[in-house]
Amino acid sequence: MPRTGSDGLSNDPVHVDVDAPRRIGVAVVGCGNWGRNLVRTFHQLPGADLRWACDLDAERLAVMRAQFPALATTRDFDAALDDDGVEAVIIGASAAAHRDLAVRAVAAGKHLYVEKPLALTVADAEEIVRVAEASDRILMVGHLLLFHPAVLYLRGLVESGELGDLHYLYGQRVNLGVVRQDENALWSFGPHDISVMNFLMAEMPYSVAARGQAYLQDGVEDVVFVNLRYSGGRMGQIQLSWLDPHKLRRLTVVGSRKMAVFDDTALSEKVRVYDKGASISQDYATYGEYLGLRQGDIVIPRIPMVEPLAVEGEHFLACVRDGIAPRSGGREGLEVVRVLDAASRSLALDGAPVVVEPGRATPGRAE
Ligand SMILES: NC(=O)c1ccc[n+]([C@@H]2O[C@H](COP(=O)([O-])OP(=O)(O)OC[C@H]3O[C@@H](n4cnc5c(N)ncnc54)[C@H](O)[C@@H]3O)[C@@H](O)[C@H]2O)c1
Repeated sequence: MPRTGSDGLSNDPVHVDVDAPRRIGVAVVGCGNWGRNLVRTFHQLPGADLRWACDLDAERLAVMRAQFPALATTRDFDAALDDDGVEAVIIGASAAAHRDLAVRAVAAGKHLYVEKPLALTVADAEEIVRVAEASDRILMVGHLLLFHPAVLYLRGLVESGELGDLHYLYGQRVNLGVVRQDENALWSFGPHDISVMNFLMAEMPYSVAARGQAYLQDGVEDVVFVNLRYSGGRMGQIQLSWLDPHKLRRLTVVGSRKMAVFDDTALSEKVRVYDKGASISQDYATYGEYLGLRQGDIVIPRIPMVEPLAVEGEHFLACVRDGIAPRSGGREGLEVVRVLDAASRSLALDGAPVVVEPGRATPGRAE
């Protein structure tokens, strides 16, 4: 029971939680298949005050109101931009709309979270980065896997030197459906693997070659194979398809000392580290001594699993609150678009290698 004084007010000392983070007012624009996950996440995060859900499509908004009855919804993006309580805009709309929405949000003084890919052309991605930097606004790109505990574990293995020197990586992201009409398998799936490979390699590739084929719809490749060349002879390869009998979300990392596999379809035990390798002896008498193959233990590390989208959302809110540079900032997002653009040009040249225009920053790499 609270103790009350003669004025009827509580005599209990007022409790101010000085450690509680300031809540950031946010608006989510784009409430489609993925955007509704952003609405759910920012609705749940204690550091967020979700004030608006916006979409051009009234039916999508009706779905949001049914799920979150207290949430204000609008088809008019300006209504959210005019709200002084909105500090940050979360853009989960179709990629073709990212540039226009992002530029308007920055002009209204808002910080930005933009879903991957940052934009559909290098010029548009550059413009988003430029306006955000010029206005000193936080810009984060939704490269979800950079917030996956298994990917962070792999990065730790690389940084600690446990894998030795990185030789090559390959990713498989294939399944049957969802078949998209407005973007090909490269632009739909590729940002995930490219962002992870750049993160593990701590740089972007200097050259890309891609081959693919459109089987279902003219001009929209359903299957794409991408080869990436990184410095020091390191390579990456990515297989992308929505026309495949398997559902694979797998990344294999081969280093000079050990190898690791991340299988995101596994319910648990998503990472395995193989103490396997091969070495050439300089001092040998027989061929058996010349080539040493090591078949050591397989370790399954215990990695606490958390929902990457919630971690990603919390990271963005912390960046806005404390002025921190995001792990997947605008420049990292721009680098991914540069790689996608080079891969698209290579696709048009039936796999001829294309030089990736140099960017500046990569995750974890000092400029
Ligand atoms: N991080 C991930 O794992 C992940 C997964 C899937 C999709 N995505 C990305 O999320 C974005 C949306 O994808 P999706 O699958 O939800 O697409 P979707 O087609 O299901 O939904 C897009 C929504 O954006 C709305 N929209 C388009 N232009 C708009 C505008 N100018 N103003 C307001 N609303 C607008 C549409 O009405 C639609 O409701 C894309 O960039 C996609 O690449 C990310």
